[in-house]
Amino acid sequence: MSKIILTGDRPTGRLHLGHYVGSLQRRVALQNSGEYEKILIMIADAQALTDNFDNPEKIRQNIIEVALDYLSVGLDPNVSTLFIQSQIPQLTELTFYYLNLVSVARLYRNPTVKAEIQQRNFEASIPTGFLCYPVSQAADITAFKATTVPVGEDQLPMLEQTREIVRKFNSVYRPTLVEPEVLLPENSACMRLPGTDGKAKMSKSLGNCIYLADPPELVRDKIMNMYTDPLHLKVSDPGHLEGNAVFTYLDAFCQDRHFEEYLPEYANLDELKAHYQKGGLGDVKIKKFLNSIIQEELAPIRARRKEYEQDIGAVYHILKAGSDAAQAIAQATLDEVKAAMQINYFDDGALMEAHKRKYANGL
Ligand code: TRP
Repeated sequence: MSKIILTGDRPTGRLHLGHYVGSLQRRVALQNSGEYEKILIMIADAQALTDNFDNPEKIRQNIIEVALDYLSVGLDPNVSTLFIQSQIPQLTELTFYYLNLVSVARLYRNPTVKAEIQQRNFEASIPTGFLCYPVSQAADITAFKATTVPVGEDQLPMLEQTREIVRKFNSVYRPTLVEPEVLLPENSACMRLPGTDGKAKMSKSLGNCIYLADPPELVRDKIMNMYTDPLHLKVSDPGHLEGNAVFTYLDAFCQDRHFEEYLPEYANLDELKAHYQKGGLGDVKIKKFLNSIIQEELAPIRARRKEYEQDIGAVYHILKAGSDAAQAIAQATLDEVKAAMQINYFDDGALMEAHKRKYANGL
């Protein structure tokens, strides 16, 4: 079976380092591996509207930001199809049919949905569209017969729900849809990069993000102000690694070659950690080291972004062409789905013939 990737992001803000290590970096590597027949990367604006329906302007403004972030990290529009979810009406149609295969109780049990209902104070009144977004996500994935969905671990419950919908559809109707596999980051530090304040997750609302598009000085300031170890007051004090955001970032980004280049007194991260734990290694030194690494990583991304920013028309063209291509694929799947569900009345000549025979005798 050919391998197909589908993944995406909600356009609620610019993308940050958490997105980068959690998913973007991997997508580019998978794209460049040449192992995939199709790679589809979706800007999930319709999903973003399920909890931002009263703020369409925010979503509208962030579509171009996410597209620029995609292109700047190295997603190549000649290889990967970049498209906008709302422009593929077939996804909405699939969602409507899949809703029959999922109980309300099952939606309430989805751990990600549960957590988000709390975060958004939806307990008293949950918009139906929001409750059902995992079903729409199943449509996103299955419309393209995706075999592989590279995402962060917070998306695991969505993938589980998609797989259930696929199994149910294939057993109620006939084998039509493909059960996708999830691809999580390999490195545990990348699984969930903490915010610069040490909180569990980078999140726009917490103001603890380093954005891919941040200028170098701002990145430096954010790193120099990062949360480390509150017990490490003097350089000579022993330092702790647990919950220390700077070390988690080093776990995510640092390679041995970085020591040669920026911190030759140490051979590798284990040596640096050992010295920190023993005492005698100051936070400023490790922050400067981290800054060098992050700046090196972000420099080519920033440069590519600048180029695309000079040609916004081309970016719009990429999204339009990608959306047209995605529509064609989704339509082919929708045709199969409707045939499996026997709602293809006008494509099924035998149906009309049978009805003709049924009434022929009465005349
Ligand atoms: N739920 C994803 C997020 O919040 C976005 C998304 C929508 C997605 N549809 C998808 C991810 C399909 C992977 C596959 O970031």
